[in-house]
Amino acid sequence: MLRMAPTIVTIFGANGDLTKRKLLPALYNLFVDRNLPKQFLILGIARSGDTDAFRATMRQAVETYSRRPATDEQWEEFAKHIDFLPGVFEDAGLYERLRDRISSEESQWDEPASHIYYLSTPPSRFEMIANSLGNVGLCAARTRDRIVVEKPFGTDIESAGALNEHLVRNFHEDQIYRIDHYLGKETVQNILVFRFANNLFEPVWNRRYVDHVQITVAEDVGVESRGKYYESSGALRDMIQNHLLQILCLVAMEPPVTYEGEEVRNKKVDVLRAVRPIQPHEVRNAAVRGQYDEGFSCGDTVIGYRQETDVAPDSSVETYAALKLYIDNWRWHDVPFYLRTGKRMPRKLSQVVIHFRPVPHLAFPQDAADQFEENRLLINIQPEEGIDMRFMAKEPGAGMRLRSVDMEFNYEQAFKAPSREAYETLLQEV
Ligand code: BG6
Repeated sequence: MLRMAPTIVTIFGANGDLTKRKLLPALYNLFVDRNLPKQFLILGIARSGDTDAFRATMRQAVETYSRRPATDEQWEEFAKHIDFLPGVFEDAGLYERLRDRISSEESQWDEPASHIYYLSTPPSRFEMIANSLGNVGLCAARTRDRIVVEKPFGTDIESAGALNEHLVRNFHEDQIYRIDHYLGKETVQNILVFRFANNLFEPVWNRRYVDHVQITVAEDVGVESRGKYYESSGALRDMIQNHLLQILCLVAMEPPVTYEGEEVRNKKVDVLRAVRPIQPHEVRNAAVRGQYDEGFSCGDTVIGYRQETDVAPDSSVETYAALKLYIDNWRWHDVPFYLRTGKRMPRKLSQVVIHFRPVPHLAFPQDAADQFEENRLLINIQPEEGIDMRFMAKEPGAGMRLRSVDMEFNYEQAFKAPSREAYETLLQEV
């Protein structure tokens, strides 16, 4: 590990869902694994509250959402690094108090700290917070001050461009981190390794051998307490434009020359540029939307989307979306990529399936091969983590019968260690 500089993580929107479910549990696990610097401070900012109440809520959050439970001893140590600053984002005084709090902490440390400003807020606040940080000089140190934003990053190219403007006015591009937590998942990062550190698969990774590709992210949960946000996003914006398109890029991109952010990004952008636009008259054949109704999920009775809190009773927002895309380049021309995601599906499953073409000629008699299946490569993102190769084998016994079998790689078995949470990886990178 590189030695890490002292760090202050300021979370705007500290009373929100993301802080409880993801950020604090991730920071706690980084702490337990000794992946945080010795001198660090987590500063929560929200409209109301105080340090004691914030620590208590975060302890509860870690109990509920952390991949490992908190022991009293470790929590006590960790909690000393948590503080809270009440305030509203519109108040210029808040940023002065923040600056003072940061410098009083730093004055006890032996070197200047890195500052991470995590905007766990609606995007409508990005402009105000970025400008206010700029006004009090909190983003001036190009190598030490960083800002992190979450989706949704606009709703179209104009609004995304406008948001970007506000950020780049105060922060240099290399200080800005736009988070997509799927990129922090081991199994998603492994797609690059699987493709580009092995010689076996790349020669067949193209239109000559691949019939189609399926990218699925199914969740068994509903929208939970996020009805208000979800009403403005729907499955297409919540999952497809970010997580599924990132996976698509990793599966379809050309080999990068180096493993560097800019290079990998450029290769991904090439994929997106090659995606064939769907013309209005083709939408019917290329896209499906759906919405969950009341029913049963995992044995429990559950309400429909329109009955969820903060959801309009006549809402037409989609909780399921599926798309058929084509990538117009030499490698993928005319190979369909199916992207689909939905809430309240029968089970949680994130998976990429590379479905290969049938063999050009099957020499075996019809009755030997009546269970014939094309080869399939299954990249299991979650909850199973690993890769399965499905191919045909001879069933043991007299005569000749063909059956498909699996060759399995499972992360936990192979590496004898549980995977860490995506947010741990991402926060550590930042
Ligand atoms: C988030 C979406 O980005 O990803 C949520 O906003 C979704 O709606 C979540 O539930 C899924 O993440 P994961 O890691 O549980 O697959």
